[in-house]
Amino acid sequence: MAKIFVTRKIPERGIEKLKSAGFEVEVNPEDKVLSKDELMAWLKKGSYDAVLTLLTDKLDADVFEAAKGSVKIFANMAVGFDNVDLAAAKKAGIMVSNTPGVLTDTVAEHTFALMLAIAHRVAEADRFTKAGKYHGWEPMMLLGTDLSYKTVGILGLGRIGSRVAYHAAKGFNAKVIYYDVKRNEEFEKEFGAMFCETPELLLAQSDFVSIHVPLLPTTRHLIDANRLKMMKPSAYLINTSRGPIVDEKALVEALKNNVIKGVAIDVFENEPAIEPGLIGLENIILTPHIASATEETRSKMAELAAENIIAALFNQAPPNLVK
Ligand code: GLV
Repeated sequence: MAKIFVTRKIPERGIEKLKSAGFEVEVNPEDKVLSKDELMAWLKKGSYDAVLTLLTDKLDADVFEAAKGSVKIFANMAVGFDNVDLAAAKKAGIMVSNTPGVLTDTVAEHTFALMLAIAHRVAEADRFTKAGKYHGWEPMMLLGTDLSYKTVGILGLGRIGSRVAYHAAKGFNAKVIYYDVKRNEEFEKEFGAMFCETPELLLAQSDFVSIHVPLLPTTRHLIDANRLKMMKPSAYLINTSRGPIVDEKALVEALKNNVIKGVAIDVFENEPAIEPGLIGLENIILTPHIASATEETRSKMAELAAENIIAALFNQAPPNLVK
């Protein structure tokens, strides 16, 4: 019977799917991230056929070396796979898969939760109200900013970026502009969207900038001190992609000096650490990498990761093979 290792407790539907395919499933009994040494010790001890991993597992050359000859696939339960050394996986002859699609709507929703929360000062107003500071309606109290009819700049027009663009255009009558390495003229026609040849052109025109690029060597610190200065002082920055795309130290300085109006981020440069200067500022909202964290979506992600394993172990092409 094929044996699967799951690096941490995940929604039951994923486990059930693996078991009903006839596999023996072993889940890390401790609900914590495994260190690299711990993961390698599990791999050596268990001689597993497949491993279901999370974005917090660092899968590097040593891990693939430890898995070689036994593990056929590492199925990452995430759309992102910047935690995986793909070249090392290839060298070891091990497949890697991810879980795209099933989380698109949820991450787009969370992006809007952040966008609206920062523009309408929801977290600040909640703190204010709970502190007993509300003593009656005031015409000038906690004034925010509208999203409707504003310019929303999408950095990265993949699945999630496109979904955010859809809601911005259709739900909020926003003007959508975008930057991507690939131009999409069909999308432009459908949403009246405008392509920006460079990130700089997008930053200078947007009232809201939403980041949806993957983390790659070319996108690390895509938003740095210089690019923050190119944004309008009235603009907001939202990041639900990956933390290292934004230089967090530069972000602290920009917020302290009112270079931009506000920021709402779900991801951090050195997770789970957070640049201390970000905490305590009023013009920022922080959520702990939960953009895909709904009951429905996390179950679908677990199921899809399981489907990738099942396909691989039945000698079929996994639906979400990462190359
Ligand atoms: C979450 O960040 C994911 O990549 O799925």
